[in-house]
Amino acid sequence: MINNFLYFVPVKIVFGAGKLNEAGGYVKQYGKKALIVTTGPFFKDSGLVGRIQKILAESGVESELFHEVSPNPFSTQVDAGAEFGKKTGCDVIIGLGGGSAIDAAKGIAVAMGHNAPIWNYCPSGDPDDLTATEKTLPIIAITTTSGTGSHATPYAVITNPVTKEKPGLGSDYTYAKVAIVDPELMLSVPKKITAATGFDVLAHSIEAYTSNSATPITDKMAEEAIRIVGKYLRRAVENGADIEARTALAYADTLAGFSIATAVITLCHSISHAVGGVCETVHGESLAAMTPHTMRFSMDSRPEKYKNIGMFLRDEGCCEEYDGCCTCESSVQEVEKLINDIGMNIPLSKQGVKESDFDEIASGTTKYMGGGLDLDPKRASKEDIIEILKKSF
Ligand SMILES: [Fe+2]
Repeated sequence: MINNFLYFVPVKIVFGAGKLNEAGGYVKQYGKKALIVTTGPFFKDSGLVGRIQKILAESGVESELFHEVSPNPFSTQVDAGAEFGKKTGCDVIIGLGGGSAIDAAKGIAVAMGHNAPIWNYCPSGDPDDLTATEKTLPIIAITTTSGTGSHATPYAVITNPVTKEKPGLGSDYTYAKVAIVDPELMLSVPKKITAATGFDVLAHSIEAYTSNSATPITDKMAEEAIRIVGKYLRRAVENGADIEARTALAYADTLAGFSIATAVITLCHSISHAVGGVCETVHGESLAAMTPHTMRFSMDSRPEKYKNIGMFLRDEGCCEEYDGCCTCESSVQEVEKLINDIGMNIPLSKQGVKESDFDEIASGTTKYMGGGLDLDPKRASKEDIIEILKKSF
């Protein structure tokens, strides 16, 4: 029996090796002058920005570069990018990079379009929070990592440097119009970032698959993404130049993004946002530290889903009955095996988190990530979150 559901993901995905060369034709449908948003000068120094500017110019699109975005983009940086975009007359925003650049680009598109500081549009947990409207400028995503899924979701995660809150904003208007997913751009991603972003894909898939908002469509996409991560992530970490593995993971990242666009995220991502807000951790690393513990916390509330995850990771068929080979605990152990194999076994204590931060992290999670907590099969309290942080420490 299939339950009622709603599914809406209005993103044109342009997928494949060499597809970056087609960017100009797509961007010119949405504007005359593009603001290219990246994290730091790396993309400029590597020649990628210059290559894109040339591709845009060949289609008659002018461009400007804004690269002052940190790995956890700050609201102040988004506002500065919006000011720069207004001053230079940009009318379409390109996020070039991983989730940080694409999220910042979305934030800039909202802030420019509404002529207001981005924090006005970041959810604080208040029912009067503003949401981005059709005034949002058109967004184009060009991905260079396989993680975060930001090119396929409406979400932008923005950190307030003063309050240290890190909520996710998003509406029907904050999807990218076009997402260019060119695996050739991912070949030079360093091992550690490949592992961290690859684990993010797995975390999105697990959370979407077990979410209270899961749908038959997102279940199938999340299942396939988990299978691909199980099959290819070790290979991509081992040999970054493996184009088959990079392409498979880029596809899994897109599927997982589509899954969380509707099924959203649950407990682990909710805590991870607050950890990142307080301690500026690497998103994928904090997820890897906590996912086994959030799975163990929630699995008995939806065992029919959790028991399958290990089977998916081994790319095996699912058992209909509970037996030794497919239990919820064996799924957690399969995830732990992957974490070890890709070098992501880094406890929170080694990521710059201190025990004295636990209370602030748990309070932040319940304050502005309550929506994610509500979607988990088992609603965590502040005390539960502190317990999970201790186990992941
Ligand atoms: Fe994520």
